Amino acid sequence: MLGGELGNSSASSIAYMKPIWPKLQQMHLNTLLAPVYWDLIEPEEGKFDFHLLDTMLAEARAHQLRLVLLWFGTWKNSMSCYAPAWVKTATARFPRARNSQGATEEIISPFSENALQVDKTAFVALMKHLKQKDNENHTVLMVQVENEIGMLPQARDYSSGAEEAFHKPVPAKLLEYLSAHQDLAPELKELWEAQGNKTSGTWEEVFGKGLATDEAFMAWYFGAYVEQIASAGKAAYDIPMYVNAALNAVGKKPGEYPSAGPLPQVMDVWKAAAPSIDFLSPDFYNPRFRYWSDRYARKDNPLFIPEHKLESGVEAKALYAFGHYHALGFSPFSIESVEDPSEQPIAKVYELMEQISPHLFTASPALVAPPAAGMESDAVLVTKTEDTCTLVMGDYIIHAAHDLTLGWSPQAKDSTWPVGAAIIIPQSNNEFLVAGTGVVLTFQPKTPGLHAGILSMEEGHFVHGRWEPGRRMNGDQDHQGRHLRIPTGEFGIQKVNLYTYP
Ligand code: DGJ
Repeated sequence: MLGGELGNSSASSIAYMKPIWPKLQQMHLNTLLAPVYWDLIEPEEGKFDFHLLDTMLAEARAHQLRLVLLWFGTWKNSMSCYAPAWVKTATARFPRARNSQGATEEIISPFSENALQVDKTAFVALMKHLKQKDNENHTVLMVQVENEIGMLPQARDYSSGAEEAFHKPVPAKLLEYLSAHQDLAPELKELWEAQGNKTSGTWEEVFGKGLATDEAFMAWYFGAYVEQIASAGKAAYDIPMYVNAALNAVGKKPGEYPSAGPLPQVMDVWKAAAPSIDFLSPDFYNPRFRYWSDRYARKDNPLFIPEHKLESGVEAKALYAFGHYHALGFSPFSIESVEDPSEQPIAKVYELMEQISPHLFTASPALVAPPAAGMESDAVLVTKTEDTCTLVMGDYIIHAAHDLTLGWSPQAKDSTWPVGAAIIIPQSNNEFLVAGTGVVLTFQPKTPGLHAGILSMEEGHFVHGRWEPGRRMNGDQDHQGRHLRIPTGEFGIQKVNLYTYP
């Protein structure tokens, strides 16, 4: 999914969206992530209005786009701002979460059975409608259930429902899951081990007293709530569903960040509580791209990035997500806000992805029989502070460096450098396809004592899957046979053929 997510309110107006659709095509998106708002589809209890969604389906099809729908239901960024007025105002029927002093926010308590039932009813109506309208076209690929669930301003809810659950035993389903899985996230593993890996007891008996326990407790009950919505939705129309997380900033404690969403430290709790959710996904508004991606790309969890801040470097991270993690999709947030859509770096990268996807994904271990060792495609990501990295592929060790490390360009002296990245796809032991921006690659034979030389190098394009060579790259372009370079600010594909000499 070469995606982009709309700003929150854009999809609420058909007229506002009109000029946006062609812009998305100019940016080479193939998938749009767009909200469906509970307050607008069910303004009166039991009376549904899907005209916004129907128009969106028609527009997406007319512009050759797929959709991922974001269910703005009980929670959106922790809050319950998309609950319809009849839900917001009925606080006795739909109790709010409370802090330890008893104060409320506009956050519906996940312990409210009434809220769960009405959210579920609305979600099922949505999925039934979708089945009726989209079962053949599959314009909608999947649905995000709720948005950035998380507890604020304290780590847990202290409403009467929450208090009751907190003093009950930890559900057996969670403890069985923990016992059956050896590869739990380290934070949860340690929390459980510290109390002696107990297989029964209350939350504080099993996990100890503290904020991490409060977060695990809330994660279970948020997950259990979502599970009921997702499983009922899938019974109506079975397409993939996922949940997204607001990543916590370093050094913040649970409650200071929206805690208990599907964050790495409690992902296993979510997996146990919500088996109908196919995967858990990070939203990126902070710089630790590799750290967080490593934590979400697990054997039981493919990486999908539903939101990334639309900022300089986002395009390089998209390349890296697809090339290194085989991400299912990537999606900068507020994608419609750009001027000059076809000139956007993300548009250039998506255009490259359109060309190389068939080649990348036939080499993907996730989709076909694993390629021979050393023949898997991979990617490099280079920045001013981490300006080199190394891959082993085919018969070579490939050293990647940021293009500006060459020092030739006046930009090399700038305090920040555009992020560089490339996907490298081996075609044989000595031929490589490189698609990217702002990188320089040098090659070293794996066999000690040998040197690598360039037999041929060309830039080119894939047209309907066929390679069409452009310039033959030699002389200054490959530094007289020393390297492969895709300069900063350029986006391209090159094919290099290597040989060795003693
Ligand atoms: C993350 C949320 O999921 C989005 O809906 C939006 O509110 C952005 N933050 C704003 O930066």
